[in-house]
Amino acid sequence: MIVQRVVLNSRPGKNGVPMAENFRLEQSTIADTVQAGQVRVKTLYLSVDPYMRCRMNEDTGSDYLQPWQLSEVADGGGIGVVEESKHQNLAKGDFVTSFTWPWQTVAILDGNSLQKLVPQLVNGRLSYFLGAAGITGLTALLGIREKGHVAVGANQTMVVSGAAGACGSLAGQIGRLEGCSRVVGIAGTDEKCSILVQEMGFDAAINYKKGDVAKQLRELCPGGVDVYFDNVGGDISDAVISQMNQNSHIILCGQISQYNKDVPYPPPLPADTEKIRKEKNITRERFLVLNYMDKQEASVLQLCQWIQEGKLKVRETVVEGLANIGAAFQSMMNGGNIGKQIVSVSK
Ligand SMILES: NC(=O)c1ccc[n+]([C@@H]2O[C@H](COP(=O)([O-])OP(=O)(O)OC[C@H]3O[C@@H](n4cnc5c(N)ncnc54)[C@H](OP(=O)(O)O)[C@@H]3O)[C@@H](O)[C@H]2O)c1
Repeated sequence: MIVQRVVLNSRPGKNGVPMAENFRLEQSTIADTVQAGQVRVKTLYLSVDPYMRCRMNEDTGSDYLQPWQLSEVADGGGIGVVEESKHQNLAKGDFVTSFTWPWQTVAILDGNSLQKLVPQLVNGRLSYFLGAAGITGLTALLGIREKGHVAVGANQTMVVSGAAGACGSLAGQIGRLEGCSRVVGIAGTDEKCSILVQEMGFDAAINYKKGDVAKQLRELCPGGVDVYFDNVGGDISDAVISQMNQNSHIILCGQISQYNKDVPYPPPLPADTEKIRKEKNITRERFLVLNYMDKQEASVLQLCQWIQEGKLKVRETVVEGLANIGAAFQSMMNGGNIGKQIVSVSK
């Protein structure tokens, strides 16, 4: 059978900016028959995520991430529908997902590598399983629960960077649901800031491309910052840390502003910021959602319940067509997305 797939065409280099041209669409063939234990799936949705930037390097810098190989099909979070099954637990028409879904229109996969999805849990919005009810939602929820020290009634102020992105937009809302009394977001455009406040219930939002972030934080967080959900690192995080309270907590979710640089993860803080962190006894422990997968099932149910109740507002930026996945990745890395960046492959 002839299929379309997307392969890694070239590496941007450890210090390079990733471009759509780093990926290539090509035709390929898959077997006409499905073997015992396998299923043939049609791809519906693919996820593009910042961690993929590391997979474009020959050495990802992480033992849990494998590099993509040149001229080989790329992979990541994906959702599809079973077209033919020789796996005992999967049937034609089932919706399934995997963290290692090939960027391919149709694929033959090992049935044991797939998780069955229940569309009703997300009001039929299947792609949410890649975002708010998937690894993104889990990252926001478990990051807050494992590293945030958020407590109901403690009158805490949370600041979120990368706040209009996939994790950030959920983290601010979950911070509120878990008990924070004030939530302030930091994002890269006025439109994003307005969505955060008007749609997602943030108390305020700062456009970091306009004006002094530390000064605006002083005005917007008069009691200081107790919890910082950090998606970006760099200058923005230095400004937030300068406004943090004694014994406060950083949720070290990601450092996207550093991903096109050849630096270790997590990148060390500049000396003056590190001095503040130490003096104020601010925690900054590494957080990796994959270390908490024992909590996946219960946490996904919690996220789905909030979505169904309308307590968690979900935004997606959907790009149509497998051919556009490289452009979608490039755009997301440059702030083109609001909420989760999804690629719809069905059309
Ligand atoms: N720890 C974990 O287990 C885990 C799991 C998933 C994701 N993550 C991390 O969480 C972070 C957010 O991931 P996501 O999926 O939610 O991505 P995302 O926020 O949806 O997309 C990236 C966003 O980051 C912002 N950005 C890009 N470059 C920036 C820069 N130099 N300075 C400030 N902001 C910049 C852009 O928005 P602006 O317009 O605001 O610039 C962009 O839209 C990433 O660092 C990712 O690696 C960690």
